[in-house]
Amino acid sequence: MPAAGLGTRFLPTTKAVPKELLPVVDTPGIEHVAAEAAEAGASRLVIVTSPGKEAVADYFAPQPELEATLAERGKDALLAKVRRAPALLAVETATQAEALGLGHAVGCAEPNLRPEDEAVAVLLPDDLVLPTGVLARMAQVRAEKGGTVLCAFDIPKEQISAYGVFDVEDTGDEDVKKVNGMVEKPPADQAPSTYAAAGRYLLDRAIFDALKRITPGAGGELQLTDAIALLITEGHPVHVVVHRGGRHDLGNPGGFLRAAVDFALDDPDYGPSLLEWLRARISR
Ligand code: G1P
Repeated sequence: MPAAGLGTRFLPTTKAVPKELLPVVDTPGIEHVAAEAAEAGASRLVIVTSPGKEAVADYFAPQPELEATLAERGKDALLAKVRRAPALLAVETATQAEALGLGHAVGCAEPNLRPEDEAVAVLLPDDLVLPTGVLARMAQVRAEKGGTVLCAFDIPKEQISAYGVFDVEDTGDEDVKKVNGMVEKPPADQAPSTYAAAGRYLLDRAIFDALKRITPGAGGELQLTDAIALLITEGHPVHVVVHRGGRHDLGNPGGFLRAAVDFALDDPDYGPSLLEWLRARISR
């Protein structure tokens, strides 16, 4: 998980608190995404952080003193919440010293790979993909077709320029498409389709070699999209699983608030009174 960004859209909060730790109700967004990875069978998590953002990995460490206090006081539900993140995956870190782009951030995790790792899943902690389960489907497609498999969302054309966009070809399966090209943040009238990358990537290890051969692209950054596009031109198979569910973008306050309200409305403690308050607030 790349978590090295400056979080400029959440300033001034991100002067002191990494955006990945902002709570969706009471649980940091990154824990929701780590839980999704664990559910899909992952056992190790490499968090790519930057100097000053140590709190993100620290969040996954056990807190024996706090746990003992909660246990003594019989706060079992809280204790379970506190223990959940450290129990999900074994967390290690890689450091991205300079914000040179998503492709560069992913490349920083290469030394964490073991010789037997044939592929890596990259999950962007800004993206909540709902319901969970798309990673398992992506792994299934990789087992069938090999290569690299990404998650795609069908996005309204007027919003497409904020995404990596796929040039796709149908397969026999309506939800699986072959990717013939990929372009980062194209103007809407030049987008090859309305299928956009949504923060879930199952990348063949070949990506690390491609990442060394790209040059700065959109926004002057080293783009993961460009490394994937390079692999495609070299004949590497790339497919997408089209996810028809929901999605939240935690990377900006507007999207984050929607996620928080969505999760809070489903929460038995906070949902009913929030709904009542929202109704009254909206009619005012
Ligand atoms: C990144 C990727 C982009 C992808 C998006 C999904 O962009 O570069 O291809 O579609 O995440 O959220 P960012 O949102 O970091 O600018």
